Amino acid sequence: MRAANDAVYNQNMRVTVGVSGGIAAYKAAELVRALQRRALDVHVVMTEAATRFVQPLTFAALSGHRVITSLWDEAQPEEASGGASGIDHIGEAQLSDALVVAPATANILAKFAHGIADDFLTTMYLATQVPVLVAPAMNVNMWEHPATQANLEILRQRGVKVIEPGTGVLACGMVGPGRLADPEAIADAVWNALGKRHDLAGEVVLVTAGGTREALDPVRFLGNRSSGKMGYALAEAAQSRGARVILVSGPSSLHPPAHCEVIKVTTAEQMRSAVLQRMAEVTLIIKAAAVADYKPVSVSGQKLKRSGPMTLELEPTADILAEVARQRRPGQLIVGFAAETENGMENGRAKLLRKGADAIVMNDVSGDNTGIDADKNAATFLTASTAIELPEMPKRKLADRILDEIAVLRKPRAVVVEMDQPTAQARVLSESDAPPAVRRSLIVEG
Ligand code: CTP
Repeated sequence: MRAANDAVYNQNMRVTVGVSGGIAAYKAAELVRALQRRALDVHVVMTEAATRFVQPLTFAALSGHRVITSLWDEAQPEEASGGASGIDHIGEAQLSDALVVAPATANILAKFAHGIADDFLTTMYLATQVPVLVAPAMNVNMWEHPATQANLEILRQRGVKVIEPGTGVLACGMVGPGRLADPEAIADAVWNALGKRHDLAGEVVLVTAGGTREALDPVRFLGNRSSGKMGYALAEAAQSRGARVILVSGPSSLHPPAHCEVIKVTTAEQMRSAVLQRMAEVTLIIKAAAVADYKPVSVSGQKLKRSGPMTLELEPTADILAEVARQRRPGQLIVGFAAETENGMENGRAKLLRKGADAIVMNDVSGDNTGIDADKNAATFLTASTAIELPEMPKRKLADRILDEIAVLRKPRAVVVEMDQPTAQARVLSESDAPPAVRRSLIVEG
């Protein structure tokens, strides 16, 4: 079950891997991992024959979910069934965003082609409306048999994506087509079927998120209302677009994205050391955290007692963003945030120059429904010469829009021009994937 908190910020797409009974069933474990590296939530369904080759427990351990092996819920406790269970096939079909069967045996292809629904996987296939992919693996004669080829043709005509098997020495000792395709290639095909982009592959992205806390005494601190939602959404979005993500997070009740490296910190100084320590391996830094600007000059060892009016003496914390920008190496992109309650554009631009970042995501935090701790946000993506309006939307969606604009900054030879009217040049901009309607300034190749 997804925690309520995760509903908007951390919603991975869900892929069902169907494993049918062939010697290549063990390779489905690699596929599960390859899909998880793409930040997908993987659930596994096995045919009865598949369980003869691999234990459901293997897939339960890898996926972190119960493995479905039967149409019938034998109401066994999870431990007794090795994490296997029978669950409502309609529910699984509706919750999934794609079904990929790997390995797909000649038998499962025949059942799919002819609508035979006699176990969970075949029933789910009939019940689902999401993209279906099959990665066949079998003996070369079975593969070349006209019955198998005819079944594949029926499935192709119905829109099922067939990931062709490779050629080589097969488990039966024969040579020819029939080897399960490479799990990475299968995962890529699933990715494409989901309509997802992988444009941040190769980037190592460090995201800071949440607010920091500066202790006053053993029980009190100076903090702010930041929830971490924007930063966590950025971490999840960057990871699902292929980046390796390091999330440096202040205290937050959110669940970090699965498979993302998380460094938990409390104070501004701890956040600073965590960021500086990882700078060398990072290609993109996004500083979404609301870092304390001041900390108490001294921290009381004992709980402060009430004794009339009190004046706290504060000193500034280090400006991490500015420090990172000063130390950056060539090719490292640095994006900051600016929380503003007045003169947003003016203050945002001043901050961009003062901190030396490549871009600042400026958000107006004066409203109740957007900004700090809210589920939605609106922002302006500011660079030295552009200001791109990102209207109010859920933070997870905004995260993708911000990454779209960051991806534009990666493009070489780009120059920026202000444009009032769409012209022929504007077509070049479609490369940025940004909906033209929300762009106030457009980037044109120089
Ligand atoms: N920031 C930082 N270190 C700090 C304070 C802020 O790295 N000690 C970063 C934030 O993570 C954010 C950006 O600087 O990316 C701007 O934060 P913001 O609070 O808007 O600006 P300040 O620098 O604090 O300036 P001011 O409070 O005067 O607006």
